[in-house]
Amino acid sequence: LKDETEHLSEEIKSLISSLPSDIDCSGVKLFKYQGCWYDKDILQAILNFNKNFQPQETDIIVASFPKSGTTWLKALTFALAQRSKHTSDNHPLLTHNPHELVPYLELDLYLKSSKPDLTKLPSSSPRLFSTHMSFDALKVPLKESPCKIVYVCRNVKDVLVSLWCFENSNSIIGLDGSGESNVSLEALFESFCSGVSLCGPLWENVLSYWRGSLEDPKQVLFLRYEELKTEPREQIKKLAQFLDCPFTKEEEDNGGVDKILELCSLRNLSSLEINKTGKLSEGVSFKSFFRKGEVGDWKSYMTPEMENKIDMIVEEKLQVPFLEL
Ligand code: A3P
Repeated sequence: LKDETEHLSEEIKSLISSLPSDIDCSGVKLFKYQGCWYDKDILQAILNFNKNFQPQETDIIVASFPKSGTTWLKALTFALAQRSKHTSDNHPLLTHNPHELVPYLELDLYLKSSKPDLTKLPSSSPRLFSTHMSFDALKVPLKESPCKIVYVCRNVKDVLVSLWCFENSNSIIGLDGSGESNVSLEALFESFCSGVSLCGPLWENVLSYWRGSLEDPKQVLFLRYEELKTEPREQIKKLAQFLDCPFTKEEEDNGGVDKILELCSLRNLSSLEINKTGKLSEGVSFKSFFRKGEVGDWKSYMTPEMENKIDMIVEEKLQVPFLEL
């Protein structure tokens, strides 16, 4: 039998032996660390990041629970923060998927190496990173840094349905290829409700950033997918302001806001050749990150019983009147 922990450091082996563990609906073993569930390789990456990451003052981190609008927020943040460097006919977003331009700390950079070379990133001053880890797992190395974190949250039922569609359109579930594909919606739903899902429970992930945004609104901006959909102009102006790169009057008058929204729209990104045919190195197709992008699509999939159950759980867990999910 192959020892699946062979490649892990002694530190992580000792840590995981002390953590609560459970199996998610795809058969992947997860460990609960600082309130959220991760697999062993991601935990190792989180420890690598915590130990070795040296923040720069201008760093920007795009954070989210999976399927909350990460791809969109990555595209918007890249387009905004790097807009002085690229022209619209030669823009990196036309030839790269947003996930290539804004790599994950724990799923790309620190997963592959304990000290990744951060001099060769697709973005510089500011450097752009992303994460699905909770704010509690992320914040230690950022403590003294004025770097910025933008978080996007989304209605829990839309996240769940989006995740189910995504997992069924890609056969890889565990990062190491473990686990089963084609999980039923019911099984994913139960896993989700129990909180045992990668980077979940969703409400802990959301709450950690919500608290972070209340503690330091200059460091954490809390956005909602639904508001990005209903008032995109206001929301990206708020994002630009937060990132210290507000639109000038001239940019606004020249349609600069709409150009970025158009470049990053689901319609535009999903029609690009790179996003129709490209794949991540783990085999996940770029296509699968773009589906309908609708608010309330869960209604076509979930039964009234499922709706009631998850609404009750979320209401009980959040206990914050503002935070309707
Ligand atoms: P649906 O599955 O509901 O369509 P993530 O990027 O966090 O993986 O989330 C994926 C969800 O965001 C999918 O939702 C996808 O369609 C939607 N999405 C991706 N790109 C988008 C964009 N540019 N604008 C709006 N929604 C987008």
